[in-house]
Amino acid sequence: MLKTSVYKLPSSWEAREILREKGQFWTPDWIAGPMTEYVLAEKGGLLFDPAVGTGAFFRAAKAIASEKGLAISFAGMEIDPTTLSQALEHGLTEEDIASVKIADFVLQPPQTKFYAIVANPPYIRHHRLAPEKKAQLKRLGIQIIKKPLDGRAGLHVYFLIRALSLLEENGRLAFIMPADTCEGKFAPDLWTWITANFALDAVITFSPEASPFPNIDTNPLIFFIRKAPPKNQFLWVKCHHPGTNSLMNWVRSGFEDASAHDLFVTTRDLKEGLSTGFSRGPLLNYNTKYVLGDFARVMRGVATGANNFFFMTGEKARELGIPDKYFVKAIGRTRDIPGDEITHETVETLERKGRPTLLLSLKGDDVEVFPDPIKRYLQEGERLGLPYRPLIKQRRPWYKMEVRVPPPFLFAYLGRRNSRFIRNIAMVVPLTGFLCVYPKNSDEQHLDQIWKILNHPETIANLSKIGKSYGDGAIKVEPRLLERLPIPDHVIQQFGSPVQLRLFEQRESYTPMENYEIDTEGG
Ligand SMILES: C[S@@+](CC[C@H](N)C(=O)[O-])C[C@H]1O[C@@H](n2cnc3c(N)ncnc32)[C@H](O)[C@@H]1O
Repeated sequence: MLKTSVYKLPSSWEAREILREKGQFWTPDWIAGPMTEYVLAEKGGLLFDPAVGTGAFFRAAKAIASEKGLAISFAGMEIDPTTLSQALEHGLTEEDIASVKIADFVLQPPQTKFYAIVANPPYIRHHRLAPEKKAQLKRLGIQIIKKPLDGRAGLHVYFLIRALSLLEENGRLAFIMPADTCEGKFAPDLWTWITANFALDAVITFSPEASPFPNIDTNPLIFFIRKAPPKNQFLWVKCHHPGTNSLMNWVRSGFEDASAHDLFVTTRDLKEGLSTGFSRGPLLNYNTKYVLGDFARVMRGVATGANNFFFMTGEKARELGIPDKYFVKAIGRTRDIPGDEITHETVETLERKGRPTLLLSLKGDDVEVFPDPIKRYLQEGERLGLPYRPLIKQRRPWYKMEVRVPPPFLFAYLGRRNSRFIRNIAMVVPLTGFLCVYPKNSDEQHLDQIWKILNHPETIANLSKIGKSYGDGAIKVEPRLLERLPIPDHVIQQFGSPVQLRLFEQRESYTPMENYEIDTEGG
């Protein structure tokens, strides 16, 4: 058994924020060991870590080198000198860290190439990056992969690109990264470049209970990549228990020994992996005839750009004196809907609890045509600077709200509790915490059948195959991907034949399909 260090999160919010800003989460030994083993490739030599932190990979390398009698040396980078100095309290010597440069790896990279690069880069998501830094990173993307990556790529993605560009011929790289590396909008461009220029040896994933970073809201993956001609296949691993030596044994056996009961190892086609996403299991396991998009369309809920302003309680609406006809009934938070139905009573209960249920849904009319209370309220919005907010400033005029026909079903797509489909009996309009599901055929009997099919446990289980996963098992699903949700054949047979369901009838009952691709994190 390898020595296992259990990572403890600081309990105060401030301390966690500081760690988040710098991306400081340390790699446990049972993960650092196999990653380092892969890049050292039985040879030893110079190991480069672009984000040394307190030195998890250097320590792992020293253990491997002493066990196998290999000669190794270290080079690295770290932006935070205080953190690096803590490496000395974690079993490293001054000599071990003598060649670690205090600088920004992405923007001030070393001028040499390496045979062995290993990292747990800082997971810093795009909205925490300053605009100038984002612009510099974008230029870096163009320089290395010859096209700009979508702006939602975080710093860790640029760490990976930069590190790959510093790999010597036949050199090896092992990175542990959050799943968004394979699931973000930028992912197809990123992975097309990687798999056209490098050999992807393996992708290692973890079930929620085996997460290397328990309690941290992220789903990490490990990539083993070589600077060698691309291959058509790669190994895909799912690790089911934390802290065992199964991964290390598997890497040491040259990926031969996959007998450990807690590792699932399979060979996958690169093409299939690219289209399914490397964080998800292979497509082959859920070959179903139908997907949700065969009988329903999906859109995200309304993004207001300023919920505090546009979304309010009945009491506030009355205080402001804004007439009812300017509002639509709306639902904001998944937590507000405890069950799988929204009835008129649900909405009334929320009102009584003081939760907002009214969305100010103004058309693009000139301010002058509105009654005085609305004019006054819009002036207040201007005073608060709302017209200059990111999403709002794209609207003409700024207060014109997106329109959604109330969907028969909502999908609650992000929450600690299970994701679920909700029957929208009260016909409210959802905000971005939900997706709208519009069946192509909307007669009552059909809606009942669809609801049963959608909430069937086996349909719900398939969500993990299309969604973005978070460390604790929560799943976020984009509208286009929800349309690819596989519906098990026998569930369809149980609740109505495809003919009865008129699955392929392309009746365009619902038209407002604009703005599909707006970042669903807005709101
Ligand atoms: C996730 S930690 C990993 C540290 C260590 N290698 C480990 O695995 O335990 C990432 C480290 O990168 C450092 N860092 C953040 N931004 C950096 C940058 N631009 N260049 C170099 N290091 C950076 C952070 O201070 C942090 O120590």
